[in-house]
Amino acid sequence: MSDTSRRPRRPGKPYRRPQKDPVRILAFEALRAVDERDAYANLVLPPLLRKAREKGDFDGRDAALATELVYGTLRRQGTYDAVIAACVDRPLREVDPPVLDVLSLGTHQLLGTRIPTHAAVSASVELARVVLGDGRAKFVNAVLRKVAQDDLDGWIQRVAPPYDDDPEDHLSVVHSHPRWVVSALWDSLGGGRAGIERLLEADNERPEVTLVARPGRATTEELLAEDAAVPGRWSPYAVRLAEGGEPGAIEAVRDGRAGVQDEGSQLVALALANAPLEGPDRRWLDGCAGPGGKAALLGAMAAERGALLVASEKQPHRAGLVARALAGNPGPYQVIAADGTRPAWRPGSFDRVLVDVPCTGLGALRRRPEARWRRRPEDLDGFGPLQRGLLRSALDAVRVGGVVGYATCSPHLAETRAVVDDVLKQRSGVELIDARGLLPGVPELGEGPDVQLWPHVHGTDAMYLALMRRVA
Ligand SMILES: C[S@@+](CC[C@H](N)C(=O)[O-])C[C@H]1O[C@@H](n2cnc3c(N)ncnc32)[C@H](O)[C@@H]1O
Repeated sequence: MSDTSRRPRRPGKPYRRPQKDPVRILAFEALRAVDERDAYANLVLPPLLRKAREKGDFDGRDAALATELVYGTLRRQGTYDAVIAACVDRPLREVDPPVLDVLSLGTHQLLGTRIPTHAAVSASVELARVVLGDGRAKFVNAVLRKVAQDDLDGWIQRVAPPYDDDPEDHLSVVHSHPRWVVSALWDSLGGGRAGIERLLEADNERPEVTLVARPGRATTEELLAEDAAVPGRWSPYAVRLAEGGEPGAIEAVRDGRAGVQDEGSQLVALALANAPLEGPDRRWLDGCAGPGGKAALLGAMAAERGALLVASEKQPHRAGLVARALAGNPGPYQVIAADGTRPAWRPGSFDRVLVDVPCTGLGALRRRPEARWRRRPEDLDGFGPLQRGLLRSALDAVRVGGVVGYATCSPHLAETRAVVDDVLKQRSGVELIDARGLLPGVPELGEGPDVQLWPHVHGTDAMYLALMRRVA
């Protein structure tokens, strides 16, 4: 065995231990989990932050920085990949994923934050020394020094193809969305360059936290008494929290009388509840209820009219979340775990039915920074038959004269109009209701009768809603 300790030291710089930076190490760990385990950033981060706080490594500012580094890096990954690709001498797929994560984190600090250049490079190199070793840290240093030679606008000029050559490729690099997603969003939005650019920009902004005061249980006045709370834009039950507002610190949220809910989701529930109905209005069904956001609002509105809400969800653990969301509902409700395409209820037994179907989630990219990179166009093939099946069952479940709402948190035309059109083509005795009239004061809802909300227009997720009535 050789005795390395007696080897003479090689001349050069003396060895220095890498400096451990808990914020960047945590951000790196979160990115690795998203990449390696297909984890969701919004689920991975909170426990990591809690552990760091408990260890005494972190204060509130550190947590805010770690969150911004993770979310910002994931959102901007498309743009950053194009920049990094221009600074390395091999295809990106040949760079080890952990090295790429350190490079992306560093690139975000250089191009997407106000962290000074020298601090961004040296912090990234120290991170690389801790998590990758000294050899790869040299590579990280060399690449980030090249990245630091220009700012974001300069890099975009260099790496994005000109708009006139290929508009979708250009927008894909500039606004960091996969090309197929740019194309799908544009198809649905219509119009020229300005609108799609505003939408893509809005997808890269952090959404406000919006609360819902569940009627009969909490009031918006109660929520507005909180620091930094302002009224919602469209829903009478909505209150928005300014940056830094902590929903978990609000009593009404803690005890379930209020909740965190995007205004788009509130509008979907409101429109379904307010659609005119002749005859009884006693039995409501939410056929895809998990995790229970809309069910909790529907349940509170149903209670005000003395109606029963049945909240059904296929996955038992998500049905458990629905039960939690509905606990304390002032009116009657039932939670069941059932496949909505093989209903556990009698046909024609409900007055109002919502199916908020599983979808690609392309309307909620603001909240799920990694979703745009994980989704594939082929996913639509899987969702299509299920979405059609759930809408058909919803139409079976409602009585003649009753109302069905078909909702998605995706604006992709294959998940919205195409589904409604296909199902209605094969079925007589159903008419579309103009949902725009049920959302008074909300502008730019489309040509109707269905409605499409947009982040850049309404400040909501891109929720879609078609309302139908069974007439025969
Ligand atoms: C978009 S989410 C619903 C969100 C919910 N409405 C809310 O506001 O909290 C769709 C839900 O449908 C459930 N689901 C999927 N397939 C189903 C099926 N065949 N029958 C009933 N629910 C199903 C999923 O598990 C998921 O919880």
